[in-house]
Amino acid sequence: MPDAAEPTRRAVLTLGSTGVVGGALFLAGCAPADTSDGSSGSSTPSSSAPEPTLESPAETGGADEPATGEDLGALADVPVGGSIDAEIAGEPALIAQPTAGQVVAFSAICTHQGCVVAAAGAEFDCPCHGSKYDAATGAVLNGPAIDPLSPISVAVSGDRIVAAS
Ligand code: FES
Repeated sequence: MPDAAEPTRRAVLTLGSTGVVGGALFLAGCAPADTSDGSSGSSTPSSSAPEPTLESPAETGGADEPATGEDLGALADVPVGGSIDAEIAGEPALIAQPTAGQVVAFSAICTHQGCVVAAAGAEFDCPCHGSKYDAATGAVLNGPAIDPLSPISVAVSGDRIVAAS
């Protein structure tokens, strides 16, 4: 019967047309459960089997690569002469572009008592006690903070801002 084969092909073509490699791998993991009549491999725990397949080819290719190059956003998202709030390595951070193409970043943890400092154009403002920092250098403009914000190494790669170390 040709009718039995058509739904399977449609399902494969529909999922394949997404063009996502992960989707294709996911399909491979789901196909046996979806098309089986229950005659082969009734209860195969698929929770542990597909995972090594998903992370094998491209992800582990560069085992020597350090954790650099985390994409932090588009260069165009940081105004020249301004700054934005960000998150780098899971921590609150601030990114500024003092001059076109020059990007700097700092920890957003206030050196006074640890509040999260907010981007405010050419400076960073702490909402807790009013400390202000220079967005280009992280230096204290106005206390009570005494120490500058901790710098974070970043770089520009094309039109993206990436973490560097
Ligand atoms: Fe930032 Fe006090 S914690 S000014």
